[in-house]
Amino acid sequence: YYVDWDASAAEKGGYDYFMLKEIVEQPYAVADTLLGRVGVDGTLTLDEMRLAPHELRQISKVVIIACGTSYHAGLIAKYAIEHWCRIPCEVEVASEFRYRDPILDSQTLVIAISQSGESMDTLMAVRYAREQHSRVLAICNVNGSTIPRESDGVLYTHAGPEVGVAATKTFLTQLVACYLVGLYLAQVRGLKFGDEINAIIEQLARMPEQVGRVLETVEPVRELARSLADAKTVLFLGRHVGYPVAMEGALKLKELAYMHAEAFAAGELKHGPIALIEEGLPVVVVVPSREGRGVLHDKIVSNIQEIRARGARTIVIAEEGDESVRPYSDALIEIPSVPTLLQPIVATVPLQVFACELALAKGNDVDQPRNLAKSVTVE
Ligand code: G6P
Repeated sequence: YYVDWDASAAEKGGYDYFMLKEIVEQPYAVADTLLGRVGVDGTLTLDEMRLAPHELRQISKVVIIACGTSYHAGLIAKYAIEHWCRIPCEVEVASEFRYRDPILDSQTLVIAISQSGESMDTLMAVRYAREQHSRVLAICNVNGSTIPRESDGVLYTHAGPEVGVAATKTFLTQLVACYLVGLYLAQVRGLKFGDEINAIIEQLARMPEQVGRVLETVEPVRELARSLADAKTVLFLGRHVGYPVAMEGALKLKELAYMHAEAFAAGELKHGPIALIEEGLPVVVVVPSREGRGVLHDKIVSNIQEIRARGARTIVIAEEGDESVRPYSDALIEIPSVPTLLQPIVATVPLQVFACELALAKGNDVDQPRNLAKSVTVE
């Protein structure tokens, strides 16, 4: 009795690519980011951050710097931090930040998000921020890497090693880490939204389960992706936190499928992008949850109607039970209903699967996309 033993398949947990394994690992990765940090009563423990509550109470501005997918996590964090903490928050790609003359001071909290902890542009921005006496918090995945070593504090994402060049589980865990920081800041600053903060913490703790539910329903996304392998371009629309999710969906498609993809804020459609819509053009739309932000939800539904009337093939990501989008969706991808600010955690997963499957249909190596490196340590 012989068993074919293939070391490389074993490493990939039986999957053909690390990326596929890393996508399905996401519920566990997200659970590991939360582990030990959320108390049963909703108290957050982020001691390793090494930033004392009195220091965090003095913060007057947050500046987030990052590159690539990590930058998208930062864009989402901005919505959460400004809403929960009422502190102005700027987000910038590190390569731009370091070459202008950004205004930082000792009351600025700089958050550097980097999976590898080694991206040169982000590291240089961290050094600049330290010179300006800002407090620097790193959100990183690789333990002991350079950015955390050079920062005042660090929150590790604990996603485990990510081999695929395109970030998947590390993105979801960066989001969770950003939410934890935002909620913790809100808690130590004792702001008025106590009840809302506690409710969100409860929902955040349920994210591993919610991501698991998304993964159980992505089979139709795979089929859809295969059917689009010959498309020349795919557009992505979103608004509020769905806009950076759309950007991440477009980036994944470029990285893996070498396909032109572009994301727009849905409200900008009428200011130009709508001219691009033509018969059969695939447009992925991330629909905001109905909770709290019904206005945005309804506006995006009219956007979907507008582009469909002009021939777009609409691929709609919406929360389950949202019947209002069904009549205008050529493909409808349902995700669990979660609070708006947390929606990116569940909405990103089908986009990862979509890009990965489309790339595989084109015969690409999704672990090692051409011209890209996992960590860019040069300028
Ligand atoms: C490279 C990778 C991307 C990643 C970016 C930032 O470009 O290919 O997947 O998002 O670097 O990397 P970092 O390690 O700083 O998060």
